[in-house]
Amino acid sequence: MSLLIRGGTVVNADSMFRADVFCEGETVTRIATSIDPGEVNADRVIDASGRYVFPGFIDPHVHIYLPFMGTYAKDTYETASKAAVVGGTTTLIEMICPGRDDEPAEAFALWAGKAEGLSACDYTFHMGVTRYDDAAEQQLRQIVKEGITSFKVFLAYKGALGVTDDELYAACRLAKGLGVVVTAHCENADLVAALQAKLLSEGKTGPEWHEPSRPPRVEAEGVHHFCTFLELTGASGYIVHTSCRDAIEAALPFRARGVDVDLETVIPYLTLDSSYAERLDFEGAKYVMSPPIRAAEHQRYLWDALRAGHVATVATDHAPFDFVGQKDMGKPPAGDFTKIPNGIPSVEHRVTLLWTKATPAHGSGVFDLHRFVEVAGTHAAKRFGLFPRKGVVQLGADADLVVWDDTYRGPITAADHYMDTDYDGFEGFEITGRPALVTVRGEVVAEDGKFTGTLGRGRLLKR
Ligand code: URP
Ligand code: ZN
Ligand code: ZN
Repeated sequence: MSLLIRGGTVVNADSMFRADVFCEGETVTRIATSIDPGEVNADRVIDASGRYVFPGFIDPHVHIYLPFMGTYAKDTYETASKAAVVGGTTTLIEMICPGRDDEPAEAFALWAGKAEGLSACDYTFHMGVTRYDDAAEQQLRQIVKEGITSFKVFLAYKGALGVTDDELYAACRLAKGLGVVVTAHCENADLVAALQAKLLSEGKTGPEWHEPSRPPRVEAEGVHHFCTFLELTGASGYIVHTSCRDAIEAALPFRARGVDVDLETVIPYLTLDSSYAERLDFEGAKYVMSPPIRAAEHQRYLWDALRAGHVATVATDHAPFDFVGQKDMGKPPAGDFTKIPNGIPSVEHRVTLLWTKATPAHGSGVFDLHRFVEVAGTHAAKRFGLFPRKGVVQLGADADLVVWDDTYRGPITAADHYMDTDYDGFEGFEITGRPALVTVRGEVVAEDGKFTGTLGRGRLLKR
């Protein structure tokens, strides 16, 4: 199968040029000002004139299979990968989150088994380190050998996924020794537990109290804590879902001292604010995630930090739970915000929302097209060992391409999303551009908001 995309403007993180792009099989094999379809004998020719051609985007932080807070995240690879590609994301990096009593090797096999034969896009994993002892270490070494070259640690969720400081130190030392990146959820778990207990004892039980139970200083303390471990071990780090000014300001002095730490933010923090969790009739539960969605002033700071390069990537932290039957685990009359499963479904909307809010011709003009490509894919490809196979349109790269329709206008609605949740946190948001066509390794997987690909064709990317 071959595909010729004609007349588009290719936009990479560091270049922009008008070109025809020819894909043979799974790979980009020719890029030229003009390619004659007859000469290359293209099976399909796409007219991309007047359109941008981006490298397929990468979401470096999703949850698909996730046993969590007494329930399971709602999506499967079937639903999540369809949602991803329709929205322009062609590679997913999922968090493997074993319980403390689970063996890492079994967890890796379990998570990989949930994706194999079902995913429409390529995927890989961050390996959760939720316990550290000799047996776990041997298995982690083997998992890294098998191409899973990043860890995930939780400083939050004490007693469930969270690690002790001894374990954190050992995980960072191992990562340094193996040359792998430690990704981290940074919140001080003891402070969260204490503040939750205090608020509940005062009768403050609704979803709007989730944010005050994990205020910005709690996140900043977690960031400082993690960065200290990175500094003392020399390990490379990546702080997931940074939500606020305090957290970023906690990391910057470490970066200035040469500590190798990147910051990620996620699309809910860039588009929603804490007033959503105050919605009546328990609707606020739809917006409960951790760290929490912050006051609008933090959102403005995040956009500035992205533009300034302090924040490197925009992920989703896609963690889908239904409103009815899952989010309502914390509903009155029992009423307890700590029982609301944390997470917001968003894998489908990351790129279109980012485009709508960030690019110069469309929305507020926060940053240019190169930065858009960088934060939505290229940086993650580089950080997590996927570049230049992913994250760039160039000869020899995987033919993961997004032809962009910037004339599209339409609302987001749960009525037609591919994610498997009964609500959409961005319901009614107007999108000003979306993928007209998406390819994964040369196969057309989405056109104009519809999935057209093949489930099971997605591959585990060994890094
Ligand atoms: O609220 C969140 N973020 N849920 C998913 C688990 C995590 O902490 O990433
Ligand atoms: Zn997290
Ligand atoms: Zn997460």
